[in-house]
Amino acid sequence: MSNKPVVLVTRKLPAAVEQKLAENFATILNPDDKLYSTDELLELAAGADAILPCHTEKFPAATIAQLPARVKAIANFSVGVDHVDLEAAKQKQVIVTNTPDVLSDATAEIAILLMLGAARRASEGERLVRNQQWQDWSPAFMVGRQITGKRLGILGLGRVGQVVANRARGFDMKVHYHNRKPLDPQHAGDAIYHDSVEALLANIDVLSIHCPASDATRGLLNRETIALMHRDAILVNTSRGGVIDDDALVAALQAGGIAAAGLDVFNGEPDAIHPGYRQLDNVFLLPHIGSATRETRDAMGFRAIDNLVAIFNGEEPGDRVA
Ligand code: 8YV
Repeated sequence: MSNKPVVLVTRKLPAAVEQKLAENFATILNPDDKLYSTDELLELAAGADAILPCHTEKFPAATIAQLPARVKAIANFSVGVDHVDLEAAKQKQVIVTNTPDVLSDATAEIAILLMLGAARRASEGERLVRNQQWQDWSPAFMVGRQITGKRLGILGLGRVGQVVANRARGFDMKVHYHNRKPLDPQHAGDAIYHDSVEALLANIDVLSIHCPASDATRGLLNRETIALMHRDAILVNTSRGGVIDDDALVAALQAGGIAAAGLDVFNGEPDAIHPGYRQLDNVFLLPHIGSATRETRDAMGFRAIDNLVAIFNGEEPGDRVA
């Protein structure tokens, strides 16, 4: 009989990750990639020493309270941890880890794709071609906005934000940012600091959101703050839907308060997003695929395994968040 710790893996992970996991642990896998209900999750957790979930599994305080005592850790396959009540985990002495760094490049690619897609009306153009509605060309046809040389505002110049800033510098964009505190020059580079969200929004052409979802950032982009943006401005979000008040953004996009938006994350995703987005031409929409590359999916899995190995060796895991 194996006395390896048992890890409950809530979703189907890349083969290389599941294989590496099995070298170190006994595993409860999910080969059909079924989305578990909370009851199913708790039932399976009864046989586990740790859980390796995605952001699709929610751990509010009530669920954490019901976790069996043998569950020592929640080693997330994600950088965002807003699906876990960290305070409740701390109180129950369940260690929580995430997977930072390894998804910064992939997520930055999607942020740049969203900027370009929104600015150059990619979604609208693609639909025209695909639906056989492209019948004409003129100098005024499908004219969009150029991001080259524009001012990029980064809300949350953390790991992903810094990569986005570097990629954007390749488009000669001038980077502005807001964090609670200014970063040291090594991390900020030539980016211009604004000490408030309001000051940032009033001084940019493109906004890219990279702050985590929390009580402090929920609805940060709302009627009042969006109104500070330039009418030609573009907003992109690869962080979490919760940072945006959807009614306010949809209204601004409908009324020309801002020019366009590119969104990879949503309140109510996947199937209950604000219906207004689907009706708008000036939005470029993706289904939460910021980190969805082969390289990054493997790297996220290996990083979660490193955290689990450290935990069960009695060491401090590299990416502990609670
Ligand atoms: C992941 C993400 O795909 O890591 C995150 O926080 O938002 C995504 O890029 C997802 O969370 C996997 O669980």
